[in-house]
Amino acid sequence: MSVAESPVRASPLPDGVRSEVFAALRRAGLETGPALPPGGSNARIFALTRDGEALVAKIVVDEPGLVDGHDVAALREKVAHTRRLRATSDALAALFLETSVVARGERWMAVAMPRCDGRPLIDLVDGPDASRAFERELTYVLDVLATHGYGISRVPAPGDVVVTDHVERVLRRRKLLAAVTPDAGRDRVEINGRMCTLPQRLLPAIAGNTRTMRRLAPAQLHFPVHGDANLRNFLLHSDACGRFRFHVLDPRGARRHRDLVYDLAKMLFSLTVLEAGLVHGFDIESSSAGALEVRPRWRQGSRAEIAAAFPSLVERTPAMARVVAETGSGWRRRLLFAHAVHLVAEAACRLSDRAERTMPMGGGASGRRNVAAGFYLLGTLLLNDVVADEDPDVAEHLALAV
Ligand SMILES: Nc1ncnc2c1ncn2[C@@H]1O[C@H](COP(=O)(O)OP(=O)(O)O)[C@@H](O)[C@H]1O
Ligand SMILES: [Mg+2]
Repeated sequence: MSVAESPVRASPLPDGVRSEVFAALRRAGLETGPALPPGGSNARIFALTRDGEALVAKIVVDEPGLVDGHDVAALREKVAHTRRLRATSDALAALFLETSVVARGERWMAVAMPRCDGRPLIDLVDGPDASRAFERELTYVLDVLATHGYGISRVPAPGDVVVTDHVERVLRRRKLLAAVTPDAGRDRVEINGRMCTLPQRLLPAIAGNTRTMRRLAPAQLHFPVHGDANLRNFLLHSDACGRFRFHVLDPRGARRHRDLVYDLAKMLFSLTVLEAGLVHGFDIESSSAGALEVRPRWRQGSRAEIAAAFPSLVERTPAMARVVAETGSGWRRRLLFAHAVHLVAEAACRLSDRAERTMPMGGGASGRRNVAAGFYLLGTLLLNDVVADEDPDVAEHLALAV
């Protein structure tokens, strides 16, 4: 998609950094081309060329109000993670593009990688004959990731993995989340007719409940393939440029084995509200008594069915079914729990993002706040539902949000 057609445009590099970045790229022998549409973070993406080779630059600047994960330290970890993945096997080297730091300043860093002329996997969801083409490609991606990634090694999960992966992640983002927390003075709020406990209160409470923690914890952790596996980070290419039909962008920087269900939940989140929420936003109304009504401003259509069928699709992909079974029983419940936490945690990312998005309520601060509040409130609703239910039905549970 060209920048002109894209509904999202990166915010300009801050004054004082811009000229420094471009001069440093020039000194490194890189010719800077046009800005490309950004992903989900505040990183600025530019086309680059070096000796005629098409590259992409990802530039991250430490700015006030960034969430953990959008800063220079996180980009450094992502580069190191990519290097480890590529050194692990030829198969992973074929999936992850070589990424290197090409310039850096006091509060910014630029990395370069080959430009992949591909189509984000998520875009297939809305195409003609959407569900069949999408499911075929997703099955292929899951099979490759399980065979050459997750499945290559595993370790027993430490007892505190739910706390480190989920509880601490939300608590770490407390300050940013305060901007969309309805009434910080109260622990409970009514959302779409249900009384819910706020995540900042609910998550520490379940961390202290041994029985709940046991039901939410994986038995095994797997080789850390990604950590931010939203379906925009998978680029399908039609040319013969690789051993596989796709490349993977933007691994999160994991150093140790991880819960692979966390990644699967991020894929599911792409299908439920992440992608559509960023474009359309939410209708949010508050009654005089403080009860909230939150509705997506889009018609979910075939995506709702695709999302509800996601766990079955995982189970029908033999290599992935095998590694998921290694994580222990009750994986669907763990998937829904991680998915709900992703909504809440992502609210902080929306407040950190400064990209201009074409949205019905305006693409600037009001749009950002709307999406963040929508994710936070629906995440709260889903989290309360999954924690209360021993054996939630996937379609019924997800229907609470879409
Ligand atoms: N090597 C690449 N080739 C082509 N497009 C890329 C490449 N790297 C990034 N992009 C584009 O830039 C977007 C953002 O890059 P990404 O590394 O995923 O950053 P973010 O953390 O902001 O999501 C991607 O969704 C993709 O559209
Ligand atoms: Mg991305």
